This record gives sequence, C-alpha cells and structure tokens, in this order.
Amino acid sequence: MHLLKQFSFSKRFPEIEVVGSAFAGKQDDLIPLSFGFPAPESLPVDKMTAATEAAMNTQGRQALAYSGGTGPKNILNWIKERSKLREIEATEKEIIVTAGSSQAIDLITRTLTDPGDEIWVEAPTFFGALKTFRLAETNLLSFPIDEHGLRVDLVEQELIQRVKNNLPLPKLMYIIPNYQNPGGVNLSIERRKRLAELAYEYNFFIIEDDAYVELSFNKNYTPAIYSFGPERVIYLSTFSKIIAPGLRLGWAIGLKEIIEKMQILKIDGLTSVYVQEVTKNLLEQIDMDEQINNLNSIYLSRKNAMVSAIKQHFGEDVSFHEPQGGFFLWLTFPDDIDTSEFVDAAMLAGVSYIAGKHFFLQNEGYNHMRLCFTFCEEEIIQEAIKRLAKTYYEHVNSKQMIEEAN
Ligand SMILES: Cc1ncc(COP(=O)(O)O)c(C=O)c1O
Repeated sequence: MHLLKQFSFSKRFPEIEVVGSAFAGKQDDLIPLSFGFPAPESLPVDKMTAATEAAMNTQGRQALAYSGGTGPKNILNWIKERSKLREIEATEKEIIVTAGSSQAIDLITRTLTDPGDEIWVEAPTFFGALKTFRLAETNLLSFPIDEHGLRVDLVEQELIQRVKNNLPLPKLMYIIPNYQNPGGVNLSIERRKRLAELAYEYNFFIIEDDAYVELSFNKNYTPAIYSFGPERVIYLSTFSKIIAPGLRLGWAIGLKEIIEKMQILKIDGLTSVYVQEVTKNLLEQIDMDEQINNLNSIYLSRKNAMVSAIKQHFGEDVSFHEPQGGFFLWLTFPDDIDTSEFVDAAMLAGVSYIAGKHFFLQNEGYNHMRLCFTFCEEEIIQEAIKRLAKTYYEHVNSKQMIEEAN
C-alpha cells in the first residue's frame, strides 16, 4: 500500500460559495423545492429511445465521429426557425450550439471581458451566472427589478453618472427577460427597446438569457431584446427547459465575430455530436408546440397548487408576484427574517428551498426565498408548503423567545 503524500490545490482556485445545501443530508422523504428541475414525467424517455435508435440507424458513423466545422446543421436550422418566433433573424454563422446555456454565458464572458471589467446584472439574478462572472474576476454591479423587470431607468442614470465622472462603463449587462429566475417577472417592451438603445449609446453588450421564454402559461410573447439591437445583444436559450436538462444543449445567437471567438474558446471543441444528432431526430418526431402546451399545463396547475398552499399556510405573512410562466415563485418575508437561518431546519422537516441571499451580489435579499413549482406533483407541493410553514413559524417563535429573554 502507498503512503498518501500531501498535495495542494491550484492557487488559482477561487473562493466560491457552493449553493449546495439543498442536497446536503438528502433524506428519503425530502421534498425538493430548491433547484429548477422539470417534471420527471415530462422527460421524453420513450421518444428519446426511438430518436437514439433512428440516429444510430441513419447517421450512426457521423454521430459517433468528430465532426468537422461547426457540427451538425439540422439543429442549427431548427434554432434558426424557432428564433423567428422571438423576432430574431439569424444566419448559421451567428449561432453556436453549446453545452447548455451555462456554457454560453461562460464563453461570452471569456470572449468579451478581462479581469476587473464591469458586468451589470439584475438583483436578484441566476446564481449560476454570478458564479461564472466571479470566476472571470469581473466587477459586478446590480440593479433592482420590479413587476416589469429590470429598472432600466436606474441603469441609464448610472451610465450617465459614469460618463460624467469618467468612470468605467460596463462591458456586459446580463438579463433574464422572461419569467426571470428567480423573480418570475417579464421585462416590458418599452424597457427592452430602451435597454437596447443604451447598449448602442454606451457600447456594451447585453446577454439576453431567455431560458424560460417557451414556458408561458398565457402564450404572451414579447419580441426579444435582440430584435431591437442585434449588433449589441447576444441571445441565449436552451433545450433544458423544453426537452431535458440532461441533454446539456443550449445555444447563443450573436454577431458572427463574437460567435467565431466563442468557438475558439470552446475547449471541448464541439458540443456532443451524438447528442445533437439524437436531439435532431427527436425534434423531427415530436410536435414541439404540443410538447410545450403539455409542459405548460402541468406547470400551471403546479404553480396554482403552490400559490393556494402558500395563501392557506402563510396568509398575509409572505408576499409574491404571481408568475405567468417559468419555474419559480419568489417569496418575500418580513424585513427582519433571514431565510438562510432556517434552511437546515426545513431540511430536517423534509423540504428544501434556496435562501434569497444567493441571488444577490452581497448582503442583500435575506428576507426572500426561491421555490421551484415544476418538479413535484400538486399533493406533494401541498405537503411541502405545510412543512415549510411549520418550520417558518417555529423559527419566528424561537426568535421571539430569544429577543424577549434578552
Ligand atoms: C436563467 C437561467 N439561465 C441558464 C440556466 C442553465 O441552463 P442550461 O441547463 O441550459 O445550462 C438556467 C437553469 O436553471 C437558468 O435558470
């Protein structure tokens, strides 16, 4: 047997908080409302089996070989056609297929920023994107959202101040315009237009992360920000929310020069040719509108179940914007509540959520909580909210007792 010698980790390894407590001590009866998982029964297992077989029968050698150039064309064509619904007209050279949209965020960040450059984000925002921007050692600044999305007026004020005081302007603005993660809100058309104008005026790029656009309960679609500024917007979307996250298949649309540079930085060479070929076969088999209608009917009914359970168990003690799509409910508790203080107690009670602070840059958002309504069935959601309310009121009571004792 060898005696194990000491080793050291890379000095470049950053100090990054892992938002993983939702998985810690996972017990059998845990109801997960934390991560954004799709409804398990919506995952097209049988259709995927058939698509895999078809891919092997018809493009087997192609699917299992390295592919030259930018990879299989058919997925690109599908993306091109589907994007027209968002009022996006793109050529093949303006599209890159990535390992999920997460990879696209990383590639854009590495293509367009240097350490110390400014990236502006919404508050709250997707913590996966924050992690990417922090790994790239960029300086982050956040702007609040309201029920119409990002406060573009505040972004404009800051830009004006920056110019006046000769301070750095942002290189990138990261925004989730539809069914924002976690806020659930949509950016109004006026704000989309204004943000695109600002990007031209102040010469920054917008990353438009449109992961949830298809999950619209009322089929209400607003043109993409990209449609108002194709030279200054990089549009992202993903198959994760409409087919399956395990595919790890997403895409970015932007200026040809940017897409080319992203391709160079893509150290995995090409997004899995095998997965692209199988997915192409799946897309040929399924009726995408039917698939999306099906998802939305499941998710609407789960969202409604969660909303009514929250009203029943929390009454007026929490408030929230009721989203008309997407995956999440974003709860606001009274100001003196820190939801990270009862994450562990909730886990013990058999329910997980993500505490609000993880969606902000620093020292903010303590009284919020994100719940995912898509994964669990209605009765399970009922039970989860009951457990959550019990944990919450126990926390409030013990806090009160401590305060009184002091
Ligand atoms: C806003 C947003 N962008 C990107 C992603 C990641 O998607 P993908 O699975 O395509 O990497 C998520 C997933 O939760 C998300 O919420």
